[in-house]
Amino acid sequence: MAGKFVRVAMSQASVSAQVQDPPAFGLAAVDPEAARLPFSLWAQFGRHSRRYLAGLLLLAVYQFSQWWFDTRISRAINLADQHQKEAAVRLGIWLIVVALVAFGVRVASRVAVFNAGRNAEYEIRRVLSAKLLTLGPSFYRRMSTGEIMSRVTNDLTQVRLLLGFGVLNVINTLFALVSALFVILPISPKLTAAAMLPLPLLLLVTRWFSHGFFTRTRDAQAALGEMSGRAQASIAGVRVVRSFALEGREAESFEVVNQKYLDKSLGLARLRGSMTPILQVTLALGVLVVFWYGGDLLMAREINKGQFLAFTLALGRLTWPLMSLGFIVGMLQRGRASYSRLAEVFSAEPDIVDGPVHPAKLPSGLEVKHLSFAYGDRTVVDDVSFRLEHGKSLAVVGRTGAGKSTLALLLARLLPTPRGAVFLGGNDACDLPLSTVRRTVGYAQQNAFLFSTTVGRNIAFSLDDPDSADASERAHRAAEEARIAEEIRELPDGFDTVVGERGVQLSGGQKQRTALAAAFVSEPEILVLDDPLSAVDARTERGILDAIDRQRSERSLILITHRVAAASHCDEIIVLDRGRIVERGTHDELRKGGGLYAAFAEEQRIERELQALEGEPVEPAPVGEQGAGA
Ligand SMILES: Nc1ncnc2c1ncn2[C@@H]1O[C@H](COP(=O)(O)OP(=O)(O)OP(=O)(O)O)[C@@H](O)[C@H]1O
Ligand SMILES: [Mg+2]
Repeated sequence: MAGKFVRVAMSQASVSAQVQDPPAFGLAAVDPEAARLPFSLWAQFGRHSRRYLAGLLLLAVYQFSQWWFDTRISRAINLADQHQKEAAVRLGIWLIVVALVAFGVRVASRVAVFNAGRNAEYEIRRVLSAKLLTLGPSFYRRMSTGEIMSRVTNDLTQVRLLLGFGVLNVINTLFALVSALFVILPISPKLTAAAMLPLPLLLLVTRWFSHGFFTRTRDAQAALGEMSGRAQASIAGVRVVRSFALEGREAESFEVVNQKYLDKSLGLARLRGSMTPILQVTLALGVLVVFWYGGDLLMAREINKGQFLAFTLALGRLTWPLMSLGFIVGMLQRGRASYSRLAEVFSAEPDIVDGPVHPAKLPSGLEVKHLSFAYGDRTVVDDVSFRLEHGKSLAVVGRTGAGKSTLALLLARLLPTPRGAVFLGGNDACDLPLSTVRRTVGYAQQNAFLFSTTVGRNIAFSLDDPDSADASERAHRAAEEARIAEEIRELPDGFDTVVGERGVQLSGGQKQRTALAAAFVSEPEILVLDDPLSAVDARTERGILDAIDRQRSERSLILITHRVAAASHCDEIIVLDRGRIVERGTHDELRKGGGLYAAFAEEQRIERELQALEGEPVEPAPVGEQGAGA
């Protein structure tokens, strides 16, 4: 989990650079500002009011033209009936012109409203992605990556449908109703009333379909999600599957979810297939009423031929809007539900926030006073205090699970660091802006995470322009320092080799050194290296230790390590055990102290001697110690 958070924090630099582009849609610079924008559904209409108003106006014009068309066509029929050919033709030409203009207006209205929906969607996505970068570990513990992805994709689509298609159809249906009533009521109130008889039935049927559609689409989507999750897990773990020869079992369990998805999709298809015929039957009922009763009125000369035609045309125009009403209502409800799911992400409180103090320059020197931290009720860092002056180095040594990485994360405020415990240049780290803290304390994580891009860009990730010539030169230099340059040059495209998802094309040790190079490039005031030597061979370790020595002369360094040889390069060493500092001092002092550190030193000395006996390359010995491997 912490890994995921660190990744998010790491990508903050690139994404916030991207969202700070000139606002394209009148939205203030996204990051913290945008994350505080009002996020109600109404606010979306307000922000895109110009487009919505234009759409409203165009729809009104369109429905007005429809009214004009129906009333004039009635007259044209009557003119033709009375053999007034010339006038009928002239009116006919006007009808064509108006129909063409109406077509254009209709297209324009859709463009206006759909664009408003698309723009709102774009903005919501921008705001959410900015928000996601500010949220801390507690949020990511609560919401899984899959859940977040589903909200930012599926739910956002529902919201877009609400803000575009839904809004358009609601307005259009209202206007169409008014425009059609103005045609049919004056012709015959009795016939109008009769024509409205099947309406409740129609609404019921469409509501029913809409509900069925919703549940079946949701089930099909859930089944699809399950299937892709399953596929992703077995592809990601393909080596494990193969090494246990469990391909058969994997295939079987995939078959189960695949079959489920098929069933759900077929259910949806059946509903879709039955919908058109059933709706057509319901509609035919309305047509039947109009022709039956309308025919009676026509023969009784209560209405004329032109009016009869205009009536059926106007009623026909209403069919689709009324029919779609059931779907639109469902769409609006789903859109609102989805919006509230997005609002849940939006209203989550970040647990690590900026402080108010803006120092003139990056602070130097670190002091930790009685720092304690617990995951839940399990204390992992317990009353830790130490000082680190500019240009000094500190090694943190301890058994696995002692709390070393947690301590490092607290220093960079990648976890909710308590107040009054970590001081940078005299300021409480909680009072400083996060960007200042992260630029001051550069944390190279234990499990290197690489982006699916080139090696070069991964190393130069923290620089403003990772593609510039300067960045590339710095990346090369850092790669030399981290003893990875030679191996990178042997890759198919050297520094331009794409490392694959999470760096799958590199070995564990190569990934680790690539991350180390990235840490060197960022040149923080205090460099925290979390176990940078856990996956390197003896020769590389010696090279990296030299690089670390050079780094020490330029900045403060905290080296987390299991290796006594590496710790011996540092000015001071603290030994952590179950979160507490149990020993502190220099290498020589601790080795003579006879405690945990001395035990480590002894274990590792015996290891080196065994290696020497077996003729293997020998790991470096601690500084100043002679004998095997020195
Ligand atoms: N996100 C987390 N939630 C709950 N407990 C955690 C979390 N991360 C670590 N822990 C626990 O906190 C303790 C300290 O973990 P930490 O990663 O700091 O150890 P470490 O000293 O870095 O170990 P290693 O040398 O193996 O890297 C461990 O017991 C671990 O199980
Ligand atoms: Mg660790």
